[in-house]
Amino acid sequence: MKPNTTKPDMRWFEEGRFGLFMHWGLYALNGESEWLMYNSEMTPEEYRERFFDYFEPDLFDPKEWARLAKDAGMKYFVITAKHHDGFCLWDTKTTDFNAMKAPLCRRDLLKDIIEAFRAEGLKVGVYCTLPDWSRPDMPITDRHPLRNRPEERDCSTFAPFLREQVRELLTNYGKIDLIWFDGNYLETQHVWDAPGLNEMIRKMQPGILINRLPGFSDFHSPEWTIPKDGIRDEDGNLLPWEGCQVFNGGWCYPRYDRQHRKTAKQVVEMLIRHASRGGNLLLNAGPTSRGCFDEYETEIFRALSRWMKWNGRSITGCTVAPADFPEPENGLYTYNPKTNRLYLHLFSWPDHRVILPNLGGKVKFAQLLETGCELMLTEYDPTNVHRTRLQEGDLLVKLPIESPKTEVPVIELFLK
Ligand code: GLC
Repeated sequence: MKPNTTKPDMRWFEEGRFGLFMHWGLYALNGESEWLMYNSEMTPEEYRERFFDYFEPDLFDPKEWARLAKDAGMKYFVITAKHHDGFCLWDTKTTDFNAMKAPLCRRDLLKDIIEAFRAEGLKVGVYCTLPDWSRPDMPITDRHPLRNRPEERDCSTFAPFLREQVRELLTNYGKIDLIWFDGNYLETQHVWDAPGLNEMIRKMQPGILINRLPGFSDFHSPEWTIPKDGIRDEDGNLLPWEGCQVFNGGWCYPRYDRQHRKTAKQVVEMLIRHASRGGNLLLNAGPTSRGCFDEYETEIFRALSRWMKWNGRSITGCTVAPADFPEPENGLYTYNPKTNRLYLHLFSWPDHRVILPNLGGKVKFAQLLETGCELMLTEYDPTNVHRTRLQEGDLLVKLPIESPKTEVPVIELFLK
């Protein structure tokens, strides 16, 4: 079978630049990791017995989640409909290990989440794991909770089962813009029939984007790292990519971890780093088992809202700057090709001016984006003896002494 060759329209994705990732499931009750079942070598029965009856999202308010994400400038979201433990957030007929059947939940959580985010205008992304540890037809490999109790398994029923789950996800919740697979480990690739899945998905939801389905992904998906020059083909052309990152130590709600919390400034910088290298940031938050974000996570959302309110246009619709503009020290550019504006993000505030190589004669107007206040420009002038620090081609942007009170100040340059 040939991979699908018609390319889906990726403009919403590439222009949006910023999405919310959410890892939510039974593992939030423990808060160690969504890999807890694996780490503790639990059988599906033990795992279920430990958590299923106690999952009680009494504070679940997806409209509030959606508002936080929208205000933070996020344009899409991806929610773990099912992680490797096999627990499903949706009303599925394929297993009773799902939110609808959990005695203190009894809700199709996925439906409520999708409706709330869609109502706020965000594009809908569903994460679905490829491996499923709750299934007896899943091969036991080194990445399986039962790795120390290996057994021969008949895995022939796994692909039809997974296909049925994906069919439900793509049938019962309206338009799905992105399906995000995970756990595409080489050793188990044969059991999920990627070509068959791909064909079904593209037929059911034309235009959908697919991630991490081996051989059929529409974009690259690095995690924890930010590729220095973006991700490019052999000729150096930028390829679509999305980095997924945490700000709270791990993917699921972290019980004890305070040490790995990022500050709002670090999170803003991370967003800028992705956009400046032509990638998206899929920023993860892990709701508590009670169905809300904790105070720290909420505070990060709020900080992002404040920053994006004033500076969002240096991210949304932006990409890598033209290669002939080298970045000044402690600064990163983003560029909007539609408006022909260049954005300089300053990670530390320079003393009264910043010199931009190769922008001499190329800028019509500059302003501090947050306040919309003009910044004076000085070009290289060979006859002016006091300008000896400028080299030919340099542009000097004069700055106020006091640093703006924001995580990362942005200078907007209107190019000629
Ligand atoms: C890693 C983790 C997995 C998580 C994923 C998100 O692969 O192992 O649990 O869901 O990252 O990209």
